[in-house]
Amino acid sequence: MSDRSHSMRGAGFGPVLAAQRAYAQQAEGRSKFGLVVPEAFIRGIRDLGYRGNGDAIAELIDNAIQAYADRVDVVFGYAGSSSGKKPVQLAVIDNGHGMEPSMIRMAVMWGGTHREGDRKGLGRYGYGLPCSSVSLGRRFTVYSQVAGSGLHAVSLDLDDLAAGAYTDTVGDIVVPKPVQASLPPFVQQQLARAYPSGWHCGTVVVIDKLDRLEWSTAHGLRENLSRQFGATYHKLRNETALYVDDRFVEPVDPLFLTPHFHLHALDDDRANAFDPIRIEARNPENRSYMGAINLRYSWLPPSFGSIDKGRDAVGLNANERFAILKEYHGLVFSRNGRLIDVQTRTPWTTFINNDRYIKVEIEFSAALDEAFGVTTSKQQVTVSPFIWDLLRRHGLPKAIEQLRNKVREAKAIRRMVALWPGEGEQRVSERAMGVASTGVPREASQSASRTRPALSPYQVRIEHAAKGPFFRIEEAGDVRILHLNSAHRFYDQIYDAPASNAEFRAALEVLLFSLGDVILDCDGESDGFGQAHVISWSARLEAALSMLASHLSQDSGQGEEDDGGEPEGG
Ligand SMILES: Nc1ncnc2c1ncn2[C@@H]1O[C@H](COP(=O)(O)OP(=O)(O)OP(=O)(O)O)[C@@H](O)[C@H]1O
Ligand SMILES: [Mg+2]
Repeated sequence: MSDRSHSMRGAGFGPVLAAQRAYAQQAEGRSKFGLVVPEAFIRGIRDLGYRGNGDAIAELIDNAIQAYADRVDVVFGYAGSSSGKKPVQLAVIDNGHGMEPSMIRMAVMWGGTHREGDRKGLGRYGYGLPCSSVSLGRRFTVYSQVAGSGLHAVSLDLDDLAAGAYTDTVGDIVVPKPVQASLPPFVQQQLARAYPSGWHCGTVVVIDKLDRLEWSTAHGLRENLSRQFGATYHKLRNETALYVDDRFVEPVDPLFLTPHFHLHALDDDRANAFDPIRIEARNPENRSYMGAINLRYSWLPPSFGSIDKGRDAVGLNANERFAILKEYHGLVFSRNGRLIDVQTRTPWTTFINNDRYIKVEIEFSAALDEAFGVTTSKQQVTVSPFIWDLLRRHGLPKAIEQLRNKVREAKAIRRMVALWPGEGEQRVSERAMGVASTGVPREASQSASRTRPALSPYQVRIEHAAKGPFFRIEEAGDVRILHLNSAHRFYDQIYDAPASNAEFRAALEVLLFSLGDVILDCDGESDGFGQAHVISWSARLEAALSMLASHLSQDSGQGEEDDGGEPEGG
């Protein structure tokens, strides 16, 4: 305990108790002591549970999927808004079995569910619909119709609730009765588009007074929600088609193992799978079956997130996959086929940036909710020691190490290939120079190509020119050629010295290309001035390197001349 809390204990009780007394006295005026304090409930409930808009809207999609909808639309409305860009209403529309009026009323209530104790589907608490709706806006309406009957609706407005509009004569807060209703125009328009032969049953949740949107434009909302839902529901897409703003949401497997899913075959790179594992969780006391866990593994080639495969996925060189690599980085947890969390920490290891190229998915059945610490909002897991131990015994830590090794090996091979190109392939320095500092290839004609260009506008050549400069740069058409002079001491003592290596040579080539660029650009204006400088540098460098060599050979003593080096003074 700190000093501060000690002094608080001594001096702070009085005022706190006084504040409590004042609050309770004021509450005496209440006619009823219901379990919740309405104003406080409204204040607090809005902030409970959801990491973002996507997670909240997903609750409504969960409900639609559980109602056997084969199409779900997330759409935006702009009624009364001055801008056509920022939505003021949001609706989730499904064609599931719908609800009878009395159930609509229950669905609006916190805790209202017909799925109590059910672990087969996505929902079980009776909180999803109202909690997610109020986390987005201050008013929501549930419209629903079962086949062969009319549309009914119940609205709940938090401002009205706070003003006492739902409080009855004895002080209870009562959810309004369902009434016959018609859908707002923006929902009707989408229904006409999506169901040309009519919408016969289903549910529409409309959220108004949207004061909690994370993106200020429909475009931003659509792109981000689509990406999230594409991954969240990728395993449930045989059953349900998802649309955001009337655009089909492509399913994305964050392990990139499912053929025909979006981004799986974006280019020639493919994810590599390890064998999946099925684990049966059993009660440690009586060995009774509790539920199943399925592990999937993949590792990705180092160029998986890159457009130009020769370079890392940074800045403009990141392809569409890269956002998924970043967002689903760590252990991906999936509950009854629906992604609910991603975590980078395990008891044995923490995922770092480099681990973006290894993927692990832990799919568990909702029967194991307690063991996975699933919360009411179902957006989060807190894995219990029992489950970690089970995962360890079934080889998860070992598999993570093996996946890492695969990526390490692949990176080493990629590096070798870059440093020792094959016949007719570009050197790494030539490729590096071919891309301007903005990340865009220097020659516009090559920017269109996603693969490595066959001919770079930069080339390295070795020439033997006695008494020539240590390098010269030549412009031949649109190609800039760096000639390295093997007759100059620079070549043997620096570029190709015993301590040099492929990486160092590539760096020197880039250095000289850069000097060469400036020289050529200067010489365009002041004829030959730059090249003349190189000749002076070369003479000075030859003399200095000669002196350096003589110092080094003296230092290393007489007996070391049998090292295969060239005789001095050649
Ligand atoms: N789109 C829908 N179609 C048909 N019935 C629905 C729909 N959405 C909700 N319901 C009904 O309303 C009830 C309440 O939904 P809500 O999301 O609040 O709870 P839940 O899905 O049962 O549990 P959870 O809190 O885990 O989501 C559901 O049990 C279901 O009976
Ligand atoms: Mg639900």
